[in-house]
Amino acid sequence: MSGKDLLVGLFLLLCIQSSLEKPYHGKPLSPVILMPGDGGSQFYAKLNKTSVPHVFCEKVTPEYFNLWLDVYELAPYFIDCFTDNMRLVYDPKTRTTHNAPGVDIQIRGWGDTETVEWLDPSHFGFTSYFYYIALYLESWGYKRGVSIRGAPYDFRKAPNELGGMYKKLQALIEETYTMNNNASVTLLGHSMGNPVTLYFLNHMPQAWKDKYIKSFVSLAGVWTGVIKTLRLFTSGDNLNVYVVDALKVRPEQRSMVSTAWLLPSDRYWTADEILVTRPERNYTVKDFKQFFQDLNFTDGYDMHLDTKELIRDLTPPGVEVHCLHGHNISTPGRLEFGPNMWPDSQPKVIPDDGDGTVNIRSLHACTEWKGKQKQNVYHKQFDGAEHMEILKDPRIKDYLKSLLIS
Ligand SMILES: *[C@@H]1O[C@H](CO)[C@@H](O)[C@H](O)[C@H]1NC(C)=O
Ligand SMILES: *[C@@H]1O[C@H](CO)[C@@H](O)[C@H](O)[C@H]1NC(C)=O
Ligand SMILES: *[C@@H]1O[C@H](CO)[C@@H](O)[C@H](O)[C@H]1NC(C)=O
Ligand SMILES: *[C@@H]1O[C@H](CO)[C@@H](O)[C@H](O)[C@H]1NC(C)=O
Ligand SMILES: *[C@@H]1O[C@H](CO)[C@@H](O)[C@H](O)[C@H]1NC(C)=O
Repeated sequence: MSGKDLLVGLFLLLCIQSSLEKPYHGKPLSPVILMPGDGGSQFYAKLNKTSVPHVFCEKVTPEYFNLWLDVYELAPYFIDCFTDNMRLVYDPKTRTTHNAPGVDIQIRGWGDTETVEWLDPSHFGFTSYFYYIALYLESWGYKRGVSIRGAPYDFRKAPNELGGMYKKLQALIEETYTMNNNASVTLLGHSMGNPVTLYFLNHMPQAWKDKYIKSFVSLAGVWTGVIKTLRLFTSGDNLNVYVVDALKVRPEQRSMVSTAWLLPSDRYWTADEILVTRPERNYTVKDFKQFFQDLNFTDGYDMHLDTKELIRDLTPPGVEVHCLHGHNISTPGRLEFGPNMWPDSQPKVIPDDGDGTVNIRSLHACTEWKGKQKQNVYHKQFDGAEHMEILKDPRIKDYLKSLLIS
């Protein structure tokens, strides 16, 4: 079956499914704002570069083109061009990042949903993101661009560099409230979108939150970091796209401040738990300095220092929380590098419980807020709900339906 047939089949299936849903007519709906996670916003790039990694990489483009995610950009031949356009450059003096020289990045569709519904604008099969959730909401009477809105942002960065986005987010929430007859807003985050939202809520006055926010629904939230980031820094990670060579995307993965931000927290991993082993040395949460030195990547340690306190204390968000995540899926728990494997070979992975990407203790950490804020904190875990698949899980659909329209 060709990709096209698959898409047509999927489309028909969805038409049938959505025709079974009755539109909802009742009290004002709480509008929903979608907060994407790592990799969950589309990027467009325009180039005017003086140097490129290969002669066949484009140096100058007259227009913006789709950089993330375009599955062709990840093809083996072009991956070095992609990596060189997508990477951030860290300035250890100002402790800030900027795009690679000669690369201009646009993140489009603020307030709309299109650019967070699909990772690839051509809607390539496996690249759906919030698409199914938008579809469910629409079947309950929601309208894209009015009562379902998206907040795409530069997911390479951590909250210390997202100040401009947070200003826009406040305005988007206030605008959405007004557009929907003063109905307070439901924030719905996925993965890293949740700690990004937490940081925002931690910095807004309580009176503002009481007025504008109805609840915060977190799917697969990364609250206290994730072991997988250690692999991004060492051997690189092929993003589960088998044609991608992990080492070739590693420079880009290392350059993302958000990767450093999501290193495992020393509040949730103890100093005697070994996270990475190699014949010469073991590393725990107390050994990140040594870890980055041994990788010859000390910028990574600086980025860690810049970001480690941002949400370390998990200050309660001060709004009603619905913390939903999967469990009972094998998830990287420890990395073992044998002789001559560090850091370029893929390590042996010792499994932990989690949702396939995020460790269970990090997913679960939102329960810390129970009793620490006056608003309710609901927590529910779903057996086998994988980190990405949770976005189309029927159990999540049911949960959202009863939360939003009953
Ligand atoms: C590219 O940058 C050079 C300077 O580095 C500038 O002279 C040129 O006008 C730029 N070209 C475009 C298409 O922006
Ligand atoms: C929304 O609130 C504003 C200011 O509080 C008020 O002027 C307006 O009438 C309200 N609109 C609706 C539809 O309730
Ligand atoms: C790393 O930890 C393991 C397990 O505790 C231990 O057997 C090994 O000796 C340690 N290696 C080094 C180099 O300290
Ligand atoms: C780090 O740099 C040193 C000295 O240049 C080199 O010997 C070592 O192999 C490098 N290590 C890695 C992991 O690249
Ligand atoms: C975990 O999954 C296994 C099957 O993979 C199942 O038998 C078991 O009941 C699940 N455990 C929990 C706690 O849900």
